[in-house]
Amino acid sequence: MRAELLAVDPEHPAPGVVERAGAILRAGGLVVIPTETVYGLAANALDAQAVARIYAAKGRPSVNPLIVHLAEADEVDRVARSVPPLARALMHEFWPGPCTLVLPRQAVVPDIVSAGLDTVGVRVPALAVTRAVIRAAGVPLAAPSANRYTQLSPTEAKHVVEQLGDVVDLILDAGATSVGIESTVVDVTSDPPRLLRPGGISREWLEKITGPLATPGPFDPLQPLPSPGLVARHYAPRTTLQLFSTAERGLMLKHAEGLRGGGGRVVIVLFEDTSAAAVDRVHLPADPERAARLLYATLHELDHGGYDLVLMERPPEGTAWDAVRDRLERGARGR
Ligand code: TXA
Ligand code: MG
Repeated sequence: MRAELLAVDPEHPAPGVVERAGAILRAGGLVVIPTETVYGLAANALDAQAVARIYAAKGRPSVNPLIVHLAEADEVDRVARSVPPLARALMHEFWPGPCTLVLPRQAVVPDIVSAGLDTVGVRVPALAVTRAVIRAAGVPLAAPSANRYTQLSPTEAKHVVEQLGDVVDLILDAGATSVGIESTVVDVTSDPPRLLRPGGISREWLEKITGPLATPGPFDPLQPLPSPGLVARHYAPRTTLQLFSTAERGLMLKHAEGLRGGGGRVVIVLFEDTSAAAVDRVHLPADPERAARLLYATLHELDHGGYDLVLMERPPEGTAWDAVRDRLERGARGR
């Protein structure tokens, strides 16, 4: 079955389209929704069977918890048992927006949403269309990124069609997403709060409100994972991705030329233009927000470029690049 695909304006969504999405979600179906970060694969978060369809569609292990999306911040008590004052401050500053808060879970949220954890990840997305669909559904929506497990996240509807086009009921196409990288995940159930996943909101900005955030250290195999989605190889293109440091740039351009001379299909990705070399190359902006916006789309495109190898420069130093660096390091991990 091919999914129905409907175009929709992200800020002024047609009521008919929104109502259609809401009806499918109320009936336990799967709808791909645009958000400001990446496209999400949504189902009724209060319906364990509907949520099970998300895991099946993605091929995602059920130990990996999902984020619950709300239309309004004041609905948080529907899904969270308690909301610490610091979490209220973060909600006030960052919602709607790309900030996910891990909070104590209400019993009404089924185990499967949180992979059995006593907590639940919650956010209010920024786009009018996303919030309108949540309202039309009349329930909170569980939605992971709308990609197959471990693969690149989708920032355009065509990326979704490729990976999930035959397992979902409806895909809403609102064009390319503006943030381009997933939300920042902050666990506010611990003191100090922990930054579990770098993302659309920078650490600096968060820390203005929270003070220094803890970062989970090396994983202890005997302890439950702080954020299970964070350990596996993830965000990976199909083409082999290898990273190199800026200091190695000259060396890598020569290496790529050599490979190409031997018939290798290789492309090099750099953060700024450098001296001419006879290799295929792509540039990402040397600005972290603009690079994040283009990162997944660039990697999706290179996956269609007929390459065997993507050689990519590591992003510049500094915490502003944490989210982009995190996705690239995971994407380059061995299978
Ligand atoms: O921007 C986003 O966050 C997108 C859009 C669709 O909202 N969603 C997204 O979902 O990236 P997903 O499932 O691909 O990633 C969710 C991340 C995972 O790293 C997961 O481990 C973490 O959030 N997470 C969710 N609930 C959690 C919880 N209760 N405790 C710890 N980590 C949690
Ligand atoms: Mg994901």
